[in-house]
Amino acid sequence: MSTSETQSSTLVIPSVHAVPQHIAVIMDGNGRWANARHLPRMVGHERGVAALRQVVEACMRRGVRYLSVFAFSSENWRRPEEEVSFLMGLFIKALEREVRELKENGVRLRVIGDLSAFNKNLRAAISRAESATAMNDRFHLTVAANYGGRWDILQATRKMLDQQPQLAQPGVPIAEELLAPHLAMNYAPEPDLFIRTGGEERISNFLLWQLAYTEFYFTDCYWPEFDEVQLDLAIESYQKRERRFGRTSAQVAQACSAPAS
Ligand code: IPE
Ligand code: IPE
Ligand code: MG
Repeated sequence: MSTSETQSSTLVIPSVHAVPQHIAVIMDGNGRWANARHLPRMVGHERGVAALRQVVEACMRRGVRYLSVFAFSSENWRRPEEEVSFLMGLFIKALEREVRELKENGVRLRVIGDLSAFNKNLRAAISRAESATAMNDRFHLTVAANYGGRWDILQATRKMLDQQPQLAQPGVPIAEELLAPHLAMNYAPEPDLFIRTGGEERISNFLLWQLAYTEFYFTDCYWPEFDEVQLDLAIESYQKRERRFGRTSAQVAQACSAPAS
């Protein structure tokens, strides 16, 4: 499945819009935000959900079409059990609380990741929220939960080989367009802009495949404090970048001045 929207940045030079069409976010720093205020980490996570709500609305007002956020990584199970179970409960509550408004506002919600590790209640809440918003197309919100970029590439490889066992024969070339349709986010264009809050400058196993040509933006701002103003700073930084996709600056300038075909 490859529409002009989901084309690969390594196979086709994508069209670049002034407003990023897809923003991917690592919402980091909830715990440190809370610690700095002598509050339990859990309060930071609650404030994090509120920040996400604001950022979804701000993205919609700016004409962004896809927002993909990292909510729980495949490595976050390593956290204390108490924090993990609090996060699971918070996820269910947030889904149940927000689904009606998402539906009414034209937001399609999808959750990507290995959902088999979640309990029945959470899986049911996810499936209800996904079905309730499945008809929407105005804005696409993807929540990555028990997601890992390596898991994604491996599960896609498994699916590809199950469907096309001949590809497992020695020497048979595997083109990227054979694998990409099996990735969990196959419905979205590759992110234009990647934002990580909280001061760390790493990917932490988020979208390894899809970030090939994404512009990166790091901010010290903790996620609970990330708001519309912070979002505009990230978008302004993005707008100053020259996205070359392997070409020279002169080629980019020429492509921009050429009449649209
Ligand atoms: C991000 O905030 C939320 C999750 C990983 C669930 P953190 O909980 O990682 O906050 P810090 O990095 O400890 O401040
Ligand atoms: C990445 O944040 C995952 C999420 C925000 C969900 P972490 O806080 O888990 O990342 P590391 O451990 O600092 O790399
Ligand atoms: Mg963190």
